[in-house]
Amino acid sequence: MCGIFGYINYLVERDRQFIIDTLLNGLSRLEYRGYDSAGMAVDGDKKNEVQAFKEVGKVAKLRELIAESKPDMTKSFESHAGISHTRWATHGTPTRQNCHPHRSDANWEFAVVHNGIITNYKELKALLESKGFRFETETDTECIAKLAKYLYDQHPDIEFTVLAKAVIKELEGAFGLLLKVPPLVIGVRTSKKMKVDFVDVEYSEEGALPAEQASQNAAIKKSSASLLAPPDKSLLHRSQSRAFLSDDGIPQPAEFFLSSDPSAIVEHTKKVLYLEDDDIAHIHEGQLNIHRLTKDDGTSNVRTIQTIELELQEIMKGKFDHFMQKEIFEQPESVVNTMRGRLDAVNKKVTLGGLRQYISTIRRCRRIIFIACGTSYHSCMAVRGVFEELTEIPIAVELASDFLDRQAPVFRDDTCVFVSQSGETADSLMALRYCLERGALTVGVVNVVGSSISLLTHCGVHINAGPEIGVASTKAYTSQFVAMVMFALSLSEDRASKAKRREEIMEGLAKISEQFREILKLNESIKDMCAKFFKDQKSLLLLGRGAQFPTALEGALKIKEISYLHCEAVMSGELKHGVLALVDENLPIIMILTRDNLFTKSLNAYQQVIARGGRPIVICNPEDPEFSSAQTEKIAVPKTVDCLQGLLNVIPLQLVSYWLAVGEGLNVDFPRNLAKSVTVE
Ligand code: AGP
Repeated sequence: MCGIFGYINYLVERDRQFIIDTLLNGLSRLEYRGYDSAGMAVDGDKKNEVQAFKEVGKVAKLRELIAESKPDMTKSFESHAGISHTRWATHGTPTRQNCHPHRSDANWEFAVVHNGIITNYKELKALLESKGFRFETETDTECIAKLAKYLYDQHPDIEFTVLAKAVIKELEGAFGLLLKVPPLVIGVRTSKKMKVDFVDVEYSEEGALPAEQASQNAAIKKSSASLLAPPDKSLLHRSQSRAFLSDDGIPQPAEFFLSSDPSAIVEHTKKVLYLEDDDIAHIHEGQLNIHRLTKDDGTSNVRTIQTIELELQEIMKGKFDHFMQKEIFEQPESVVNTMRGRLDAVNKKVTLGGLRQYISTIRRCRRIIFIACGTSYHSCMAVRGVFEELTEIPIAVELASDFLDRQAPVFRDDTCVFVSQSGETADSLMALRYCLERGALTVGVVNVVGSSISLLTHCGVHINAGPEIGVASTKAYTSQFVAMVMFALSLSEDRASKAKRREEIMEGLAKISEQFREILKLNESIKDMCAKFFKDQKSLLLLGRGAQFPTALEGALKIKEISYLHCEAVMSGELKHGVLALVDENLPIIMILTRDNLFTKSLNAYQQVIARGGRPIVICNPEDPEFSSAQTEKIAVPKTVDCLQGLLNVIPLQLVSYWLAVGEGLNVDFPRNLAKSVTVE
């Protein structure tokens, strides 16, 4: 999905080579998000001139294009602002023309990079065309640059922040611009210590005005909502951003790194601040000012400059060939991080700080609806049973897109849980807004701190799995699973009848990490198995029942997603209702047959497959007498509590998908047509 990176140096002399390299490196840190083209705009050789470079394909190709264009790399700039972008095509095919940055006019008076979607771009485009603008691209983004130019031409004295606000007021959709990005993170590097570790937020002053004047201003503001009249700049209150001033009030040399993702910033600085929705950050002459349109909207009036803990090596591959492989092998640690400080296995207690204030309200709710997409949806399916069992609250699990398509009924006494690795998935985010509008209590279960879902929900749990870079989600799945089991344990804390079961689950959780390590030892044998049984196959069937059906769904998604092999997950009980017709001695089949209360029923499906000449590979517990025959191909996984078994069973399937993709020589971390963070509907 699109990524944004900007770099500003103020009173810190940098040559063009440094600036371009910084932008290119920033973009390569964002590559994991998935993209199909990349571009950047930097200052040209003459005053007010812009040099733009755009290329289809990888960042490496953009680097080549820049080298071929031979810009003067020695030219130095005391102060400079460069913007760059990786694009994942939504409006218009991946072509150089459609690459960002987009421009207002041939002189590049305004250049824009954008993440997200402008839903009213057609209306804006029609209006701007009627005013004489000629559009050069098929994108929704271009209207932003042209709109800025149009408004600016009407009011040439307008301040940049006032103009930015006027532009933003006209845009509908989910958009982040340089100009502005949700969620935008800004890294700051100064040679001297910053005076304070926050930046003040500046508001329109009307909240502080006498009533009569405020109403006049409201009228002005209303009229200013039209394209022809941007907001009156006299309404703005300006304050100094104290963090970047010296003792005598003079701005200090500073560098600013702006990105859609902290992973592109961490190599430059650890000092970052996150913007909230609707914040407008304006960087000018070494000062960073944050503006909002309205006061009293419940947001804090400062943005804290935080120190991020993310280390560069955390986002690098280390000894592994692919991020996905690294992330599969990180799971023994990532699940521990999910439980750290939360699960006290000795005293049999779970504490989820982010839910504490709301836990009793959730206990009283009429229904819990889990809403998510893809892998995150599967993790919700995987914990539905344990939630129902421990809480005895009706549970629904919804795909965010379908939930919205149906405009499903949601009530004030519902609790809606949004599960998302990225916290930015457009479908989940829209479903969240839908539930908020209907007054439901919303809970976020997310990995990315500061993501939109984590900011917009009433409360939540960070799964703390660490950065997940491979497009195929692996460690986020197991951490979501564990986080939600802990959520169910918290909710059932007051139920004496569940005490024994809760203890059993907590004991199981405490052993999970070690059991993951055991399973990962199967890596080589699974690799061989893939080469032996699945090479050059056209299709694969994955069978599971009860809590193992979500495991099968997740395994099938992984296999499709990165190895491009058609793989279908089937609920074993449904086999005889149609899918059995596919089964013969040639169709590769994996059956999940670890022991649980449905084992006998699952065995029926196994017998049905065997009877049709099928030779399934079985995921079972070690030394299960049912599968003792030397002829049976087995992947033996340790036994755990039934409701946690899916955590263990999914790992061999992750490895199968990985080795299938590697065997085909495919790009494991960046599968075709997919993006890590799906920020479009
Ligand atoms: C998982 O391997 C996929 N890449 C995809 O299904 C993903 O889980 C889905 O797009 C939801 O993303 P989220 O968890 O970031 O919301």
